[in-house]
Amino acid sequence: MNIYTFKQEADFVSTGASLIVSLLHTKPRSVLGLATGSSPIGIYKRLIEMNQQGLVSFAKASSYNLDEYVGLPEGHPESYRYFMNDKLFNHIDIKMENTHVPNGNAADLEAECRKYDAMLEANGPVDLQILGLGHNGHIGFNEPDESLVGGTHVVGLQEKTRTANARFFPSLDDVPTQAVTMGVGSILKARQILLLVRGEDKAEIVKRALKGPITSQCPASLLQCHPNVVVLLDQGAGRLLS
Ligand code: F6R
Repeated sequence: MNIYTFKQEADFVSTGASLIVSLLHTKPRSVLGLATGSSPIGIYKRLIEMNQQGLVSFAKASSYNLDEYVGLPEGHPESYRYFMNDKLFNHIDIKMENTHVPNGNAADLEAECRKYDAMLEANGPVDLQILGLGHNGHIGFNEPDESLVGGTHVVGLQEKTRTANARFFPSLDDVPTQAVTMGVGSILKARQILLLVRGEDKAEIVKRALKGPITSQCPASLLQCHPNVVVLLDQGAGRLLS
């Protein structure tokens, strides 16, 4: 695991963006695993700029997002499909049909999960999986529990997660209670993982995830078992690491 801590936001962003850009330069047909949340936004902005300047192309790439809320109406501004279109896909040359986000409105959510896994199996493995880190140690929406699930599944969101995400909704009651998420097994199949964490409030969970025991009570700790993880932290998030 290679861990880098950055004083400057600009360096955090350019390091993350360069990893993705050099992958696309060497493998234009890359399969990208993407995340929503605040941590990758600066990197997505930089990728848009570089794409528009002709420095990188996504025309042959495909993408699979980690997760999606259950039950938000299509086009809802807080749905993860909306987020990805708005923050990245609408502004780069990726083919929309090559972008995949689980459908949280599928009539049969179980069938949707199996379909998502089958697509990942057929088109994967993911070359580079971007992850953020939840305050409770979640990756995707794999919440701490006595056991974890390998494949894509429907998950009940913990109060800590709903409360953290309530800032994006009119009230806590409006935050969905369920999501569809890729499982930890699918995440760990990626060839390379890029974990992005920003903010002082994540310092303790960063330490637990990267240096603490590997346990289902901190799903991100499983990343310690992966052979190719790059972690980018801002100073706040990295402050408890020696
Ligand atoms: C997003 C996701 C979540 C976030 C995590 C961190 O698709 O799966 O696990 O990555 O909650 O969110 P931020 O980046 O807002 O700190």
